[in-house]
Amino acid sequence: QRLMHRELQGVKFLVVSNREPYVHSWKGEEMVASRPAGGLALALDPVLQAANGTWIAQGTGDADRESVDEHDHVAVPPDNPTYTLRRVWIDEQLQREFYNGMANEGLWPLCHASFVRPTFRPRDWESYRRANQIFADAILEEAGDEAAFVFIQDYHFALLPRMLKERNPKLIVAQFWHIPWPNAEAFRAFPWKEEILDGLLGNDLFGFQLRYHCTNFLETIDRNIEAIVNNEQSNVQRGGHETLVRPFPISIDFDAHVRTAFGPEVQADMEEWRRQLNLDSSGIEFLGIGIDRIDYTKGIPDRLHGFDYFLEQHPEYRGRIQFVQIGVPSRMQIEQYQAVSEEVEKLVDTINTRWATGSWKPVIFLKQYFTPRQLIALHRLAHFCVVTSLHDGMNLVAKEYVASRFDEDGVLILSRFTGAARELSDALLVNPFAIGEIAEAIAQAVHMKQEERRKRMRRMRREVEENNIYHWAANILSQLLRFEIPSTQSEDE
Ligand code: F6P
Repeated sequence: QRLMHRELQGVKFLVVSNREPYVHSWKGEEMVASRPAGGLALALDPVLQAANGTWIAQGTGDADRESVDEHDHVAVPPDNPTYTLRRVWIDEQLQREFYNGMANEGLWPLCHASFVRPTFRPRDWESYRRANQIFADAILEEAGDEAAFVFIQDYHFALLPRMLKERNPKLIVAQFWHIPWPNAEAFRAFPWKEEILDGLLGNDLFGFQLRYHCTNFLETIDRNIEAIVNNEQSNVQRGGHETLVRPFPISIDFDAHVRTAFGPEVQADMEEWRRQLNLDSSGIEFLGIGIDRIDYTKGIPDRLHGFDYFLEQHPEYRGRIQFVQIGVPSRMQIEQYQAVSEEVEKLVDTINTRWATGSWKPVIFLKQYFTPRQLIALHRLAHFCVVTSLHDGMNLVAKEYVASRFDEDGVLILSRFTGAARELSDALLVNPFAIGEIAEAIAQAVHMKQEERRKRMRRMRREVEENNIYHWAANILSQLLRFEIPSTQSEDE
């Protein structure tokens, strides 16, 4: 952490994402700061706290505008300000077309192999371009004419790297694509191939979660745009500029997470969960959990079908096991997100109607946001945690569950189609499309001997502890620091 700060001193460090790390909203008369759902903002926050710098993101809360100074800056995190947040304002129509339309109805399903067909509207692409331009203006204003490191997050900003380089070639630009990159075959459906790929090749460094996504990207470039692809060195040359393409599996702040898990507040939250779920008096012996944004890529219906099948196959567990599914509402303006949310609610009802007896209800669905601390408390109570994404760049819920279990107990059931499955091979790995495999893994989890649970959890914890978020950031930054930093003096000085 200290190294990161020292190394970057003297050169501005600008991080860019669509989602802001702290949202200000009005609660009656009082302005409160809260954290949004989703892995990105949570994962990047400790990196910015260690490196200082400025985070440029879209303002979304109803009090965001009031929380800033006259230059749209606010110091965050609120209780211990260590870096600056610059908010960018996007109007409603642009948000609808850039964020809902192009980013989440176009690029999101294109990049995830999850059988929702992407929609590409020319107007959304127009707005995507415009939103990238608005962010480019804000970044260039922050950087001035100087050299700076700009670290862009995700699929909302594919055109930004080229826009930045054209206007200030002294910038060193890196981007991390948090979601998968599709194979060249699937990418053929994208209508504005040359423009998007050229945009991305403005990066000096382009990072993915997995080597596999890098390979897909290199092949996509090779087939679609004039450029020299070097597969061995994993780089691309276009118009005399080189882009390095590298895998950097993202992670969490393991130590901070463990400190929270040890804290007395988590104990209190555990008590609260016990009370709310009636765990002490209901005869429940096994608690299973799932925690996701409500998103069709997360395989929530598949997981519920798997649990239903488990109850069918193992009648001896009826009345003794409970599954708590937390679904945080997400991107609800989009039809497919509403559809999956309704599907989950119906399925929970069907399963409960089928199996419930007396006061026992097999599934509890909580459709709301919980704080990280409340989730840690739930992790600590759960005998097993189920992650069944149909396709996921990484999935940090899996890593968080492992980090919470300092008692070295608990079983992780994990989809093979997540990036996390490459690192957490001691989880019970399943094909999320095969409900029989999910049911079998649940049976294995409840039968597993303590010794075996401990062995697996210990190894997974070691993995997350070593490959933590600072390791991720340090790897990216050390690549960045190998680029020559252009002199900040202008030629005629
Ligand atoms: O995993 C992809 C991702 O965009 C993350 O980067 C982000 O944390 C999460 O999905 C939530 O998405 P949104 O910002 O659209 O709520």
